[in-house]
Amino acid sequence: MIIAVDGPAASGKGTLATGLAQHYGLPHLDTGLLYRAVGRAVGDYEDLPEFEARAIAAAEALDAGHLTDIAELTSARSGVLASKVAVIGPVRQALFEFQRSFATQAGGAVLDGRDIGTKICPDADVKLFIQADSKARMERRARQLEARGVVVDRYALFHQIEERDARDMLNPHGGFYKAADAHLLETTHLGIEAALRAAIAIVEKVM
Ligand code: C5P
Repeated sequence: MIIAVDGPAASGKGTLATGLAQHYGLPHLDTGLLYRAVGRAVGDYEDLPEFEARAIAAAEALDAGHLTDIAELTSARSGVLASKVAVIGPVRQALFEFQRSFATQAGGAVLDGRDIGTKICPDADVKLFIQADSKARMERRARQLEARGVVVDRYALFHQIEERDARDMLNPHGGFYKAADAHLLETTHLGIEAALRAAIAIVEKVM
C-alpha cells in the first residue's frame, strides 16, 4: 500500500504521515528533508549559476546519511533554503529517483511532501491533501520549535511560511496542487489526534 500525503508548509502533513506509517506498519519518508538537506549542503549563494550547479551536484550525491541531523534540517532557515533549491529542475529529477525507489519498495510506504500524489506516486493507493490556514500553520510550527527550546519570532515565522508558500506556488517544476483523486483534509480546527483519526477513516474507506 502506498499512501501519498501532500500539503503546504507546516500543514501537519509530516505528523499525519508519521501517524499513518505507525498505524499501518509502513516505512515513512518525509520528502521535505531531501530538499532541506540539499539546501543546507549549498547554503546561500549570490551567484545563481553557481548556486544551481552546487544544488544539482548535492542532489545527485544525496543519500540517507544526509538526513539524520533532524534539528538542523527542520529549522526555518533550512525550509527557506529548501524552497530555493526546489525550483531547479535537475534537482527535482535527482530527488525523484530517490523518492521513487523508496515508494516502490516491497510492502509499501507513506511519503509526504508537495508533489507526491501528482508526480512521485500518481499511482498511490490513497492520496491525502492536507490543508490549514496560514495562521494556524505558523502557530503549530512555532509550538514545535518552542518545544525544542528555540525562541520564536512569530511575525518573522509567519512571513517565512508565506514566502515559502509563494515560492512553492510559483515553482514551474512543481505539482503543488491537490491531485484530482486526492482526499482533502482540512485541519485548521483539528488537533493531532482528531486529524489522524480523520486520515485513518479516509484510508479505511478507500482500501
Ligand atoms: O515539507 P517541508 O516544509 O519540509 O519542505 C521544505 C521545502 O522543500 C518546501 O517549501 C518545498 O519548496 C520543497 N519540497 C518540494 N517537494 C517536496 C517536498 C518539499 O518542493 N516533495
